[in-house]
Amino acid sequence: MINKQLILISGVTGSLGEAYLEHYRNSEKRVAGISRSQPKIPYTDVQYLKANLLDPNQSKRCMDKLSLEGITELVLIHPVGRFKFEKNFTEVNPEIYASNVETLTNLVNPLLKRQEKPSITLVAFGSISDKYEVPFWRSYSKSKNALRKYIHELADKEEKIKGVFINLSSVRTRNESILRPYANTRYWITPEEIVQRSVPELSPTEKWKEIDIFNLSPDYSPTIYTNHSAVLKRWTEEMHGENQNNHKKLYKQ
Ligand SMILES: NC(=O)c1ccc[n+]([C@@H]2O[C@H](COP(=O)([O-])OP(=O)(O)OC[C@H]3O[C@@H](n4cnc5c(N)ncnc54)[C@H](OP(=O)(O)O)[C@@H]3O)[C@@H](O)[C@H]2O)c1
Repeated sequence: MINKQLILISGVTGSLGEAYLEHYRNSEKRVAGISRSQPKIPYTDVQYLKANLLDPNQSKRCMDKLSLEGITELVLIHPVGRFKFEKNFTEVNPEIYASNVETLTNLVNPLLKRQEKPSITLVAFGSISDKYEVPFWRSYSKSKNALRKYIHELADKEEKIKGVFINLSSVRTRNESILRPYANTRYWITPEEIVQRSVPELSPTEKWKEIDIFNLSPDYSPTIYTNHSAVLKRWTEEMHGENQNNHKKLYKQ
């Protein structure tokens, strides 16, 4: 019997993408993954698609190759999107915007044009700090807010689309440990915990749903994101003096 549900994980080689892959590949569902690089351990039961999602043509070709035969429900999990610490923010950095927003819109546009019309749940990730637009990562927050708005509006407009937006606190990912090597990670959430807590939310009855996933740290205070001098001091210590080399090591451009 052909499985009718497909889990498509863009960013399948990242910390969160890998955790979702490990969860779903042992399930009844069909699984596909997208990234630019090859996965370290390619699984034979996963359809891997290679594309730079910043490129609309590559993204379209990738969506045209996606096997949708017999699929009635598609869940697109999109853990893609670069972060940037910006001490002197002026305007939204176009690379951060493209990495967070266009990588999804480039996938969704051709997907909606496919002849098969499965129901689609779009799942994307932001930060619990997005609503505060902290000046030191405002490009990131503004991009995540644009992504949130795009999915919400699409879910309102398109009958077969639903949206789930997951707001995270600091996560124990490879990137975050490079960016903030001196942070106390004791209360940081792990990708596996995010998977465990989010999977039950990925078959929503509502058209749009937003959830927060975090571990409450004893250091938490309501001013954690609004006291900007304290935010700058904490982050500078965690990044070891805002070492820009940390950023360079983070992402393939
Ligand atoms: N870490 C945190 O504390 C934290 C907190 C809140 C929210 N988040 C969010 O969680 C999400 C996942 O984070 P993560 O650390 O797991 O990310 P990550 O390790 O950097 O993984 C990103 C994935 O996306 C792929 N990717 C990036 N750019 C691409 C492109 N242009 N085309 C195709 N694939 C691309 C990467 O693969 P290739 O490089 O091979 O293409 C990789 O598989 C992000 O949206 C982040 O904003 C993280």
